[in-house]
Amino acid sequence: MRVLFVCLGNICRSPTAEGVFRRELEAAGLVHRVEVDSCGIGDWHVGRAPDPRAAAAAGRRGIDLSGLRARQLAAEDFHRFDYLLAMDHDNLAALQAQCPEGCRAHIGLFLDFAGHHDRPVPDPYYGGERGFEEVLELIESASRGLVEEIAGRLEGRRP
Ligand code: 4NP
Repeated sequence: MRVLFVCLGNICRSPTAEGVFRRELEAAGLVHRVEVDSCGIGDWHVGRAPDPRAAAAAGRRGIDLSGLRARQLAAEDFHRFDYLLAMDHDNLAALQAQCPEGCRAHIGLFLDFAGHHDRPVPDPYYGGERGFEEVLELIESASRGLVEEIAGRLEGRRP
């Protein structure tokens, strides 16, 4: 199973999701069965490490984002990943616009897995520290929901 988290710059929300979701997979004993990656719709930050505010918020929870580097969404991602999960509606619209015909991946909003239908992970880039805490809380909740769904699929409980 392969999961790709998608935001605008790949330096705040989606690398946070990658780190948090990987930790939840480890806790569930599934880290070797699920590949996780993240990317951005835009290319402004390609090659950069996560934003220091995102890294600090994750670090307060014992999650190390320092090895991650930003990359841009690529056409082959639509064939490689089973889930392409957008942080907000703009990211989702960009994914849907670029999605090739015949693509069978699940493309949707990440917070659907937190039971928040149609809600975005707000972009924290131009805000303060509190925004990064909120992002982390939302991402933790959705990560748990996504681990549950994937565990169900791997065990054959869900299609
Ligand atoms: P992200 O946050 O999409 O969560 O990585 C942003 C990072 C950079 C910019 C916007 C959002 N930017 O405009 O450069």
